[in-house]
Amino acid sequence: MKTFLGPKDLPSIEYALKEARFIKENRFADQHLGTNKTILLVFFNSSLRTRLSTQKAAMNLGMNTIVLDINQGAWKLETERGVIMDGDKSEHILEAIPVMSSYCDIVGVRSFAGLKDKKYDYNETIINQFIQYSGKPVISMESATVHPMQAFADLITIEEYKDKARPKVVMTWAPHPKVLPQAVPNSFAQWMNATDYEFVITHPKGYELEPEFVGNAIVDYDQNKALKGADFVYAKNWSACMEPHYGEILSMDRDWTVDTKKMALTNNAYFMHCLPVRRGMIVSDDVIESPRSLVIQEAANREISAQTVIKEVLKSL
Ligand code: CP
Repeated sequence: MKTFLGPKDLPSIEYALKEARFIKENRFADQHLGTNKTILLVFFNSSLRTRLSTQKAAMNLGMNTIVLDINQGAWKLETERGVIMDGDKSEHILEAIPVMSSYCDIVGVRSFAGLKDKKYDYNETIINQFIQYSGKPVISMESATVHPMQAFADLITIEEYKDKARPKVVMTWAPHPKVLPQAVPNSFAQWMNATDYEFVITHPKGYELEPEFVGNAIVDYDQNKALKGADFVYAKNWSACMEPHYGEILSMDRDWTVDTKKMALTNNAYFMHCLPVRRGMIVSDDVIESPRSLVIQEAANREISAQTVIKEVLKSL
């Protein structure tokens, strides 16, 4: 596997889940694969979970890890061609990428959507430059439109907690004070659509996601109706995806906050969120602290999803 942006880059969902189950029980069984190999993790944006879990996964596989925070200690990078570099950006990404990749065997990239230019974001301009110019396998640690290692960890978690073959999974938009990308909901939808779960997306009008990610999911604008009978509730905020409102906040309606009244509509559902989460906006304290909250388990499974992905890449080197 030379790039990892979504479920199609793995041999199959069944294979990926089987591997994840093996890795969870045998975290250090494949150290020979990573001996004398180096992974470089490049962060254009902040991270807690992705940074720690991906490093831990690589170390479990016997790898050396290097973490680089662009904008904090490295030169500021220009990412557009054809610009006169007379501002605060000292280095162009087209030199920086091959230099960075000369020190490693695999590159992980975190680069959020700018949410100003939809074409630039949805072309995955930054990570595609790494794919094109690094000459090394590249994995997304949340790029402009996808967060595949998060969605894979979410799927692993649902598989661990489901008590029926075909659970009802509801992804609900919830309010947030900041403009957030669509990468997490896009990937969650993509990975849920790769299963045979009953999958429902609910959000206010105006928050439609791109059809390539929505797939065959049921979209319901009535959150209360959507939540009925849910076995898993996956809450997430995202900004508007469709033009002319791309990257805008259209609603801060706290009627969409997931609280005990909302959870009472479900089939005693588990609550899920990728974290970090804003309490009182996305979810109430009592829901996230309840025994049905899986947020810590999801985060812990980030180590497993990352290790499964990196192992596949190492096997192809
Ligand atoms: N869920 C997630 O990706 O968390 P971080 O932004 O902290 O890495």
